[in-house]
Amino acid sequence: MKKWKLILLAALGIFAALQLTNPARTNPPVITDFITAAKPPAAVATSIRAACYDCHSYETKWPWYSRVAPVSWLIVSDTDEGREKLDFSDWPDEAVRAAKKMDRINEVLGYREMPPKKYTLIHADARLTEAQRKEIMDWTDAAAAKLRAASTNE
Ligand code: HEC
Repeated sequence: MKKWKLILLAALGIFAALQLTNPARTNPPVITDFITAAKPPAAVATSIRAACYDCHSYETKWPWYSRVAPVSWLIVSDTDEGREKLDFSDWPDEAVRAAKKMDRINEVLGYREMPPKKYTLIHADARLTEAQRKEIMDWTDAAAAKLRAASTNE
């Protein structure tokens, strides 16, 4: 057999073996949905759902390439880490904790850290316009202040 054929076969074998290492793609049951609990205006809800829910909720829309190693490792680990930091499907009931989450959302939007560029490169529908970004930030600002005011009156 020619050398290049052996190399090609070896590469295919490695690729096939990698497919046995695909991590589990999970969507556990939603506990408390952010949109239901915090009731943002419809436009804010739509933006957050489109730009954040794939990595920060239990309603991830897994693309076909999330089944293909080694890309699957990157996508599953991003989603695991994203859910750990901020979970729109496990929104806190407690006012001060919810207000803190809103502060963090406001912060990452202000610094344009989220949604990550590597993600919006592929997911055009997750890109936020400046107006959408500002709309979310204005709402998180006001909603966090309202939650804090309500909790000190108790
Ligand atoms: C491609 C997946 C992905 C998308 C989409 C995404 N995030 Fe994230 N997000 C992550 C990951 C991974 C982390 C944890 C690592 C980090 O902080 O960079 C994170 C961290 C965060 C944090 C916590 C920062 C901290 O250090 O506590 C906040 C808040 C956040 N994201 C908000 C958002 C918001 C709001 C959106 C939508 C506008 C969004 N993210 C979209 C993957 C994503």
